[in-house]
Amino acid sequence: MPDMLVKLYELPEMDDILPQLYGHGIEIRRAMAPDKIRILAWIGEHSSQGAVGEADVCFSHTPISLFLATRGNEIVGYACYNATAPNFFGPTRVLESEQKKGIGKALLLQSLHALRAQGYAYAIIGGVGPQQFYEKVVGATLIEGSKPGIYKDYLGAKE
Ligand SMILES: CC(C)(COP(=O)(O)OP(=O)(O)OC[C@H]1O[C@@H](n2cnc3c(N)ncnc32)[C@H](O)[C@@H]1OP(=O)(O)O)[C@@H](O)C(=O)NCCC(=O)NCCS
Repeated sequence: MPDMLVKLYELPEMDDILPQLYGHGIEIRRAMAPDKIRILAWIGEHSSQGAVGEADVCFSHTPISLFLATRGNEIVGYACYNATAPNFFGPTRVLESEQKKGIGKALLLQSLHALRAQGYAYAIIGGVGPQQFYEKVVGATLIEGSKPGIYKDYLGAKE
């Protein structure tokens, strides 16, 4: 899967998105260290062991580079950044029953705004799945010749 490039200086604002989700009972919040084991277990159940490894790295940063979407105390989605490499976005996932409500977009934008605040001008979506999602939400473009790119040493990719 190739990588994509995002212009952080042209990011859509988030002003309307968070209140809209809140109206549907969904909050976007930064992960907290005391929830680490629970969050990694959720990611193991709903994503993959590779994603658990990446998310674990996020907990070694301050602030933790992982955002959650929650309904009450229940996790319904997550997004990582600065995990596989500095300035990379991903992995991310929204529970299937909660998709198409704007949660994936909110998690993506929240993470990219955090990278923008760190001073980056561009960000990279690492090893994309749904290319059209990233094109639509943040105008991401494919990086030529980026497959397998940084993932060439990922043992799990060969399984
Ligand atoms: C990709 C994913 C995170 C999107 O989450 P989501 O909450 O359903 O997305 P949103 O509701 O925020 O969608 C925002 C917009 O993108 C569009 N979109 C969502 N998924 C899309 C897809 N797979 N392809 C094209 N467009 C998509 C939506 O229709 C929506 O458009 P609109 O603003 O015109 O209504 C979610 O589908 C998911 O978890 N997929 C499985 C894991 C995965 O592929 N992760 C990415 C690895 S790189």
